[in-house]
Amino acid sequence: MALQVSTAGFSLFHQRRVQRIRAVASEEFASLKTQEDKVKLGGSDLKVTKLGIGAWSWGDTSYWNNFEWDDRKLKAANSAFNASIDCGITLFDTAEVYGSRLSFGAINSETLLGRFIKERKAKVPELEVAVATKFAALPWRLGRGSVVAALKDSLCRLGLSSVDLYQLHWPGIWGNEGYIDGLGDAVEQGLVKSVGVSNYNEKRLRDAYKQLKIRGIPLASNQVNYSLIYRAPEENGVKAACDELGITLIAYSPIAQGVLTGKYTPQNPPSGPRGRIYTPDFLTKLQPVLNRIMEIGQSYGRTPTQVVLNWLIAQENVIPIPGAKTAEQAKDFAGALGWRLTNEEIVELRSLASEVKPVIGFPVENL
Ligand SMILES: NC(=O)c1ccc[n+]([C@@H]2O[C@H](COP(=O)([O-])OP(=O)(O)OC[C@H]3O[C@@H](n4cnc5c(N)ncnc54)[C@H](OP(=O)(O)O)[C@@H]3O)[C@@H](O)[C@H]2O)c1
Repeated sequence: MALQVSTAGFSLFHQRRVQRIRAVASEEFASLKTQEDKVKLGGSDLKVTKLGIGAWSWGDTSYWNNFEWDDRKLKAANSAFNASIDCGITLFDTAEVYGSRLSFGAINSETLLGRFIKERKAKVPELEVAVATKFAALPWRLGRGSVVAALKDSLCRLGLSSVDLYQLHWPGIWGNEGYIDGLGDAVEQGLVKSVGVSNYNEKRLRDAYKQLKIRGIPLASNQVNYSLIYRAPEENGVKAACDELGITLIAYSPIAQGVLTGKYTPQNPPSGPRGRIYTPDFLTKLQPVLNRIMEIGQSYGRTPTQVVLNWLIAQENVIPIPGAKTAEQAKDFAGALGWRLTNEEIVELRSLASEVKPVIGFPVENL
């Protein structure tokens, strides 16, 4: 009972505090645009913002959005896109399978992103947006030709002639060498500026890097699950291999699907599929970590979301891509940039978080 009262109090206090911090943060956006430099994506020539926006939830009805998509959610996603651009964040991550037509009522995320870009460019033609999308290594897709064919379909949905980053979404059960050759073909055909992989373990990462290197093509990135409470890349050699080979680690689910924002509590767990992963029991164990994140955030005038994203960026060679459903969420992310936690705080947060057993990850990481 005592725990319930204290976590409910935390939640109320947290909401008020976050609203105030967000208001302060929004006044900083204009200056952030000029302060923040872009970084090179791995060994490629592409330069992107230090933080990107994930577009998985846009149009999705299989995991997000309580299994339904409507006009209100569409408007919110569109405003998330516009708010990101206003804050100077211009990297967007999508995939051919996000908003899959196999899921009832879904709209493809690439189609939505392409529409948002087109509308914004109609007003600001010189706007530069970096689009990252992904190839789904489905078992019936064999050979290098399937990569370029799928990419052309993605470009069609996006309404673009090329994308900035094309990634293999997960390793295939077979056909992986062919997929890597396909990435190289996409570069040589001028359909992509850079190529990457996702959910690749250390061995697969090193093999893919070598195979592309023979053709003089850098493997620019590996997109993996990485957050303060899911630190597998630090433990399984993936982060170290990325650093050694000059491959950027793109961190997905960087705010643990909303859990690290502090808005979910044992009394108010997330609904839908997330509720089965982030259970009241897990959220109870997480409270000490969240309390400390909150305290540190207060000392900087930052939200918990900004603290945990800053923690990831401070690991260096990491670009987090949090998902934004609304303009407010996108604006919150921008406040993760332009400052830095101290080394002591970084170590302290990792140490506190290591006392909480991580939830299960996406099984494709182990393919
Ligand atoms: N390569 C892969 O296999 C893979 C796998 C997963 C994700 N990804 C990519 O990574 C991106 C991000 O990962 P993710 O979407 O799984 O998780 P995430 O970024 O950790 O969490 C996103 C969710 O957190 C909540 N949220 C966002 N900002 C917030 C804020 N400021 N305050 C409070 N709540 C906030 C929103 O959901 P609610 O408002 O509903 O709480 C949002 O949908 C995806 O969009 C996708 O592009 C890739």
